[in-house]
Amino acid sequence: MKISTVCLAGVLCSVVRGLTISDKSVNESSSLLQGIIFEDINRCGDGGAYGELLNNRAFQGVLDFKPSLDNYEGINEKSELELVNEPLSDALQYSMKVSEGGFINRGYWGVNVKGGEKYTARFYLKDDSNVQNVKVGLKGVSSEEVFASAKAKKSEGDAYLFPAKSNGFQLYSAELVPKKSAPNSNNAFYLEFDGSDAVFNFVSLMPTLYKGRKNGLRADLAEALEGMGSSFLRFPGGNNLEGQTVDTRWKWNETVGPLINRRGRMGDWTYPNTNGLGMHEYFEWCEDMGMTPILDVYAGYSLEGEEVEEEDLQPYIDEVLNQLEYCLGDETTKYGKWRIQNGRKDPFDVRYVEIGNEDFFSKHYDYRFPAYHKAIKDKYPDIVIIASSEVGINFPKDEVLWWDQHYYKTPEWFIGNFSFYDNYPRNNTKVLVSEYAATDVSATQRLPQVVPHSHLLAAIGEAVWMLGMERNSDQVLGACYAPLLQNIHATQTKAPGIIEFGASSTALAPSYYVQNLYANAFGDKILQLQDPKFDPLFYLANLDTKRNRVHVKVANPTNQTLDFSADIDVQGFKQASASGKAISSYDPNAKNFLDQAEAVSPKPLKVSYHDSHLSFTVGPYFFGVVTLQS
Ligand code: AHR
Repeated sequence: MKISTVCLAGVLCSVVRGLTISDKSVNESSSLLQGIIFEDINRCGDGGAYGELLNNRAFQGVLDFKPSLDNYEGINEKSELELVNEPLSDALQYSMKVSEGGFINRGYWGVNVKGGEKYTARFYLKDDSNVQNVKVGLKGVSSEEVFASAKAKKSEGDAYLFPAKSNGFQLYSAELVPKKSAPNSNNAFYLEFDGSDAVFNFVSLMPTLYKGRKNGLRADLAEALEGMGSSFLRFPGGNNLEGQTVDTRWKWNETVGPLINRRGRMGDWTYPNTNGLGMHEYFEWCEDMGMTPILDVYAGYSLEGEEVEEEDLQPYIDEVLNQLEYCLGDETTKYGKWRIQNGRKDPFDVRYVEIGNEDFFSKHYDYRFPAYHKAIKDKYPDIVIIASSEVGINFPKDEVLWWDQHYYKTPEWFIGNFSFYDNYPRNNTKVLVSEYAATDVSATQRLPQVVPHSHLLAAIGEAVWMLGMERNSDQVLGACYAPLLQNIHATQTKAPGIIEFGASSTALAPSYYVQNLYANAFGDKILQLQDPKFDPLFYLANLDTKRNRVHVKVANPTNQTLDFSADIDVQGFKQASASGKAISSYDPNAKNFLDQAEAVSPKPLKVSYHDSHLSFTVGPYFFGVVTLQS
C-alpha cells in the first residue's frame, strides 16, 4: 500500500484538511449494500445458528450421512443401545432401541445450561415399547450434577412441525427449566425409564428460540446477527447449495414440512445436514430481522465438476419453477397448496433469485444460465435475476441483471482496490458482491488445522472496500461478508467467520464491528467531496434525509495517528450535534477470541463540531463513523 504522508507512529499528522463536504448528491445508496449470506459451513447451521442442541437427533450421522448412534451412550453399564430398522417416517428409517435404563447425548461439543431458560425436550417412542416413567433432564458430564429434570408426557405436538403420531410412534415432550446455570458447557441431555427395549427416534432439545419460534435460531447468535443491521439474507449457499454431485445437491423440497419428514443430506462442508433449518426457516429469519431474501437456486452444476447435459436440464429447471410456485403460489397451485398445508398461508417474499453459485468454475453456464433465466422470467417477469458468473454468457441488454462477484483477498488487496468500481463499466449489469472477506490464509488451504481468527487489519481492509463499494452504489447494489459464523470446534474455510461461537458463548470479530458501525450509517444520498485526497485515509459522507443525519465514515489502514477535518456545507447542519464511534488499536493483529471477546470493540470517538467545521483524531488501524444530527 502506498502511504503518501510521512509520519512517525504515534505522531499526529494532518492528512485531510480543507475538505468540503457539500450538499450535492453524487449517488443514491442502494438499500442492499450490507447483507449476510448463510450456508451451513464451519458447523454453523446444525450445532450453531440452528436451535437444536442434540447432535444426531434422528440418527442421520455425525461425520457421514449414514445412520448411526454416534454421540449417544447408555446411561449406565447395563443400557445397551442398538440401531434398528424401525422407521419413524419415510425419511427417518432407523431408530434406537435401548435395552434398559436410558441414554445420554452430549450435544454439539457440550450443551449450554442456562438458569431460568426454558428448554423443550421432544422425542418419539414406539407404541409397543414396554416402558413407564420416562424422565428427561440436563446434567453435568463430570460432576453428574442434575440441573433440571421432568417427567415426559404424551404430546399433541404441532401439525406443521412435530406431528403427534407417526408410524406407530407417539410424540412425548417435557419442559426443563434449570434453577441455575451450569459452570461450563460440559453437560449432557439424559433420558431414563423403567422397563425394557424402548425404541426411540427424533430426540430433540431446544432452548427458547429467537423470537419465540418453535423451530428456528439459537437466540444469542441470532441477536448478534441482528446487530449487524443487515438488509438482506442470501441462502442456502454458497457451495452448500451445489452438492458434491448432482444427486447430493440441496433439494428445497426435502427441507420443508414436519421435521420428521426431512431426511437430511451430506452437506458440502464434510458433515451431514439435518435440514432442520430449511427453506421456511430461512424466510422466517428474514422476516424476523427485516431482511430481503436473496434465494439462490440449484442450476445443474455440482462441486466435483458434474454438470447436467443440455438435453437433460428441463427437470432441474422444473424443480426451480416448483420451488418458486411453492414460495409464491396460492391455494389453487399444487406447490402453493403444499406451502399452505405446511402452515404458511402468505407467499414468501421472493424478488431476487440467483442462478447457481460460482459458475465460473463450470464449463456450461453458457446454456444453463439462459435456460433458467428464460424459464423464470417467463413466469415471474418482476423477479430480479442474479448470475453467478459472467463467463460465457451474453447478458440480456434490455433488462437490469445482477452479477454476483466473490472476493477472498488479502487486507492489502482490499485497501489497494478502494477505487475498483470507480471506472467500472456502467450498463444494465449491476454488481452484487455476495461474498467477501480479507484473509491471510491461502485460498487453497481450505482445512487449516489452526482456527483462523479475523484480525483488525483485515477488518480495516474490508472497511476501505466497503467505502469503495458504497460510493459506487449505482453500480454495486448489494454486498455481504462471508462466511458468517465459525464454530470454534469445526472451522474449515479460508476466511474466518465474523462471529465465533462455542456451545455457550460468542465472540464478535473486528470485522463484525465494521459491519455493526456501518449498519447504522447508511444514507439515501452520497455527498460530494470537494478535492478529496485518499490514502492513507479513506472516507465517505452520506446524508440520511429521513433521519436528518450526515454520516462521515473514515478508515485508516496505517499505524499512524492522523487528523481529519472537513467543512460540512449541507443545508440545515450548521449547528448539528455530533457524536462518533470507532474501532482502533496499535496492533493490526488484534483479535477477539471466546475467552477474550472484547479486545477490539467500538469506543466513543471525541469529535469537535462548530459552525459546520468538523474535526477529530483518527487513531491507528481505525474505522470510525461520525454522525451529525440536525
Ligand atoms: O465462503 C465459503 C465458500 O467460498 C462459499 O461456499 C463459496 O461460494 C466460496 O467459494
